[in-house]
Amino acid sequence: AGTLGAAAAEKGRYFGAAVAANHLGEAAYATTLDTEFNSATPENEMKWDAVESTRNSFTFGAADQIVGHAQGKGMKVRGHTLVWHSQLPGWVSGLGASDLRAAMNNHITQVMLHYKGKIHSWDVVNEAFQDGGSGARRSSPFQDKLGNGFIEEAFRTARAADPAAKLCYNDYNTDGANAKSNAVYAMVKDFKARGVPIDCVGFQSHFNSASPVPGDYRANLQRFADLGVDVQITELDIEGSGSSQAASYTTVVNACLDVSRCTGITVWGVTDKYSWRSGGTPLLFDGNYAKKPAYTAVLTAL
Ligand code: XIL
Repeated sequence: AGTLGAAAAEKGRYFGAAVAANHLGEAAYATTLDTEFNSATPENEMKWDAVESTRNSFTFGAADQIVGHAQGKGMKVRGHTLVWHSQLPGWVSGLGASDLRAAMNNHITQVMLHYKGKIHSWDVVNEAFQDGGSGARRSSPFQDKLGNGFIEEAFRTARAADPAAKLCYNDYNTDGANAKSNAVYAMVKDFKARGVPIDCVGFQSHFNSASPVPGDYRANLQRFADLGVDVQITELDIEGSGSSQAASYTTVVNACLDVSRCTGITVWGVTDKYSWRSGGTPLLFDGNYAKKPAYTAVLTAL
């Protein structure tokens, strides 16, 4: 197949990109997205500060724009993200425990009901674990006020709101086996053992020279899949250029293809022009929307 989406579809997978609503009016951006990708993740538009900046007053305009665009082009949509310590409005952090619990469950429910039937997978909880060797939970209003049980509660609330959506836990620096991914692994294993609803684990996969694709990337995806969840590569970008960047992309695509429960790959942006890594060139299309060696490597590997 001649496009990333079509080639991935032949392997029973999706190939997506993070999308920003404010670039959809740029012809080259929209054309590249529409031609090459068959899944879209709103880059910021579904985050708490974007959809509920004031308590119980929901603003879905920008996210709806992306969902409408994607559906019009036959793309799937990933939902990102419901419960996260970042891009969280100040009013949430100011709540006491019982109010915070109610606000979290209301947020999950209202957002998921608005998009019911339109989202294939939701990042229900994002980045709840600390970096480093402790394997501990990250401090956040949710963790600090509700305790470890907030993740389980979020997943149970999400299942009730949209039973057809796949519910994912998503994080970074969990791409290889390490203390952080071991802690996530233990949580997923416990959830599966106790019947807490979880369907998938997202591996953000933001790579650079200090944090390259781990040698055990495939094995790490496989050990999670062996717990009985799907795995998805959710925010892939790899700093660099030329053939070394291309080779890293090949490694990532091959790892996903080697794991039957790896259901799709999303790159964190369409073009280097708008990458969140300002000044970097981590994506598949350059700033002029030309295909990079990394693009060819991905298409070849698929
Ligand atoms: C980033 C966006 O790309 C930026 O535009 C925004 O300013 C900050 O967030 N992990 C995540 C994503 O889960 O939501 C983040 O996206 C990148 C890191």
